[in-house]
Amino acid sequence: MIKINENYKKLQASYLFVEISKRVSEFQKKNPDKEIIRMGIGDVTLPLPAVCTSAMHKAVDDLANAKTFKGYGPEQGYDFLREPIAENDFKSLGVSADEIFVSDGAKCDTANIQELFSQDTVIALPDPVYPVYSDTNVMAGRSGNFINGRYENFIYLDSTEKNNFIPDLPSKKPDLIYLCFPNNPTGATAAKDQLKKWVDYAKENKALILFDAAYEAFIRDASLPKSIFEIAGAKEVAVEFRSFSKTAGFTGVRCGFIAISKECKVWDKEGNSHSLHALWNRRHSTKFNGASYPIQKGAAAIYTPEGKKEVKDMIDYYLTNAKVIRESMEKLGYKCTGGDNSPYVWVKTGKPSWDFFDFLLDKTGVVCTPGAGFGACGEGYVRFSAFNSKEKTEAAMAKVAEFVK
Ligand code: MLT
Repeated sequence: MIKINENYKKLQASYLFVEISKRVSEFQKKNPDKEIIRMGIGDVTLPLPAVCTSAMHKAVDDLANAKTFKGYGPEQGYDFLREPIAENDFKSLGVSADEIFVSDGAKCDTANIQELFSQDTVIALPDPVYPVYSDTNVMAGRSGNFINGRYENFIYLDSTEKNNFIPDLPSKKPDLIYLCFPNNPTGATAAKDQLKKWVDYAKENKALILFDAAYEAFIRDASLPKSIFEIAGAKEVAVEFRSFSKTAGFTGVRCGFIAISKECKVWDKEGNSHSLHALWNRRHSTKFNGASYPIQKGAAAIYTPEGKKEVKDMIDYYLTNAKVIRESMEKLGYKCTGGDNSPYVWVKTGKPSWDFFDFLLDKTGVVCTPGAGFGACGEGYVRFSAFNSKEKTEAAMAKVAEFVK
């Protein structure tokens, strides 16, 4: 008899964005004439930068020619991409090209990395949280049971209005700490001294920080850190995830990377240290055969002068939408966070979040993401994504204003 992984039975309902899609499709079926404006999942709407698509076209031509054809590439990514990543994103921070592992996106990377760690690893994750961090550890059997809205073995790092959505250090000691800044879903950003606290804490406790920087391109405030490696000592205790999805519109074509310093150490049960870089390299080259050549060529084009300009314009466009959302919601009297150095605006609704979601969908056709879907601390909030078009964002806000009136 084939038996299932019992841990899957502990997962709550369906994956958040699947549940939202289900509700939206049901609504659409019942109201075929009603326009839906999607501001739920953070999926981009602008086309890929022209510099990326022309690099991809050229790469496809390479594949059509026996002289330039490519079969399997290096699992860790081609040097033509790893080198500009290291040079542009990490040069002053001392991360080199061979410490970059290119992948098919940050979702898979943040989901997969937990399998390097022991079954009894104590997990700390923010609440509200990007569900992938939590669900993958549930699947791996580290959660314990779901009791009163929380998994009994997880340490929840409450991110609330009280702490400006920047979690405090926990009272119980974790081994593995998930942090994400600019934050998904709250849009909050962490200052250097706030990240330093976490780096020092991880050092003191031989813990590891998994730092999700998928939204770093949205940081416009020069005083804010874009990388955890801006904090002294972070290379020993943190790894960083990055994604081209939100930076350059790659949600559909998929490309991201992890930066793992060779200085980063983890331990076995005898207390001997191991290189996390070597462990990930082992896993990555066993289970992954490299992101596709045309996609990596497209990603590398982002680092050219034209690529940088196109990406900046793209991010500016979405940040303008975020500003529109935040200002409109604030005008209606809602307290908001995010939307300045982030594409997400986190809105305090004063109502249960799924009720607000359903009500908004029903009255206006606008889709947001219910905060409760990201954890207990998200109850009473919804998240708006700025990734729709300018026109639709403005239309959505006009409809919301009408309905709230
Ligand atoms: C989100 O809406 O939170 C993100 O788009 C999800 C993701 O990047 O996987």
